[in-house]
Amino acid sequence: MKVTIFGTGYVGLVTGACLAEVGHEVTCVDVDPRKIARLNDGVIPIYEPGLEPIVRENHAQGRLHFTTDAAEGVAFGELQFIAVGTPPDEDGSADLQYVRAVAATIAEHMDGPKIIIDKSTVPVGTGDQVRQVVADILAKRGVELDFDVVSNPEFLKEGAAVNDFMKPDRIIVGTSDPHSEAVMRELYAPFNRNHDRMVVMDLRSAELTKYAANAMLATKISFMNELANLAERLGADIENVRLGIGSDPRIGYHFIYPGCGYGGSCFPKDVQALVRIAHAVDHEPLLLDAVEAVNRRQKSRLFELLVEHYGGREQLAGKTFALWGLAFKPNTDDMREASSRVLMESLWDAGARVQAFDPEAMEETQRLYGQRDDLSLVGTRDAALKGADALIICTEWKAFRAPDFDLMRESLAEPTIFDGRNLYDPYRLAEEGWTYYGIGRGKSVRRIA
Ligand SMILES: NC(=O)c1ccc[n+]([C@@H]2O[C@H](COP(=O)([O-])OP(=O)(O)OC[C@H]3O[C@@H](n4cnc5c(N)ncnc54)[C@H](O)[C@@H]3O)[C@@H](O)[C@H]2O)c1
Repeated sequence: MKVTIFGTGYVGLVTGACLAEVGHEVTCVDVDPRKIARLNDGVIPIYEPGLEPIVRENHAQGRLHFTTDAAEGVAFGELQFIAVGTPPDEDGSADLQYVRAVAATIAEHMDGPKIIIDKSTVPVGTGDQVRQVVADILAKRGVELDFDVVSNPEFLKEGAAVNDFMKPDRIIVGTSDPHSEAVMRELYAPFNRNHDRMVVMDLRSAELTKYAANAMLATKISFMNELANLAERLGADIENVRLGIGSDPRIGYHFIYPGCGYGGSCFPKDVQALVRIAHAVDHEPLLLDAVEAVNRRQKSRLFELLVEHYGGREQLAGKTFALWGLAFKPNTDDMREASSRVLMESLWDAGARVQAFDPEAMEETQRLYGQRDDLSLVGTRDAALKGADALIICTEWKAFRAPDFDLMRESLAEPTIFDGRNLYDPYRLAEEGWTYYGIGRGKSVRRIA
């Protein structure tokens, strides 16, 4: 099948590459000429495990094209995917300007029937808006052409995006049109060989399903962070509690890790957007407000622990902290809404320096913050420790799980760790003379130390 994808970011590029990988012909369109030039040169603009070889191979085989020419893109596919960003507006609602712009572009250039498929995460009712934009422009052009608008939200996880797309848990398709449904079934048939993963529903329910999934996952994290803070005050260890509740199959072990808050391009923005969606229909979203507030507070937790440990914010001035992990989660270079940013900015405000290492996100950190005296980005995790007062961990990269604690002690001024991801055994570290702060395990451990 011939498919065009507007937007060549995390979602658009993975979608394009994976559809080409199973044999479809794909044209990816982006307004960023630098991105398209790099892709045409075989350079992948994002870090995503497994993506590079399939982009290169399918590009070389002529099944995957990259262009900035929107007219060429519209002419190419019967299926036109919208996979552009939907960032938060000033009030937290989803900014739909890029989605509308693509809808208008498709309408201006189309000269045959099209199925327009919205893959971006968009508020309920956006499909109807897209339909209206296209209908208005076609009317202005004085042409009558068949088109349909389908919702097909994406559930891939950055860091595992290729695998998630190739082996999806479910494929949500929102349409009431039998032809569109049949086309979507054909498009996704190669991903459905093992069993049918497609769940077809009306367009509005499909749009809401995406927000519901992200809001549920964010709720699990905020719930655990709330309990972690409580555990700390009560002298309990949240990691024991996590194991205790995860063993209940109704709860499960997935996604109940306490930590220094969720970030990324999706959870914060989608929870906020769902709050706005609720307000727009006069519903007060009590639970979602709390999920958001708990997360905002949690992103300051590591800084609070530092202030507590050093006996006041002013004591942080002139100190140097080693920071392991900058990306909002492992296996990505994405720094959007990363907890590390909140921490670094608080440390800089307090007059401290940061010596940071991340396996993939240092280029992006440099792009965001530029050159500054209070930030050094270093090439290895061990180099980050040299001469630092203490170590702080923001991202649970595998490379941080089993470090050489003796070597670390030699590099650090004090054997102190502020662990935002609960990577280590506090009891063992306490026995070895470390001062260790985790999330939700502090008080009892500090007594042992
Ligand atoms: N990143 C994720 O993990 C993820 C997962 C599921 C869903 N989503 C949703 O998918 C959507 C895209 O997210 P992303 O992370 O891929 O965004 P992104 O910012 O990485 O990429 C968006 C791309 O769209 C391009 N673009 C903007 N306007 C355009 C236009 N008029 N024509 C062509 N290209 C245009 C931009 O240049 C950019 O390359 C969002 O709605 C997001 O919420 C993201």
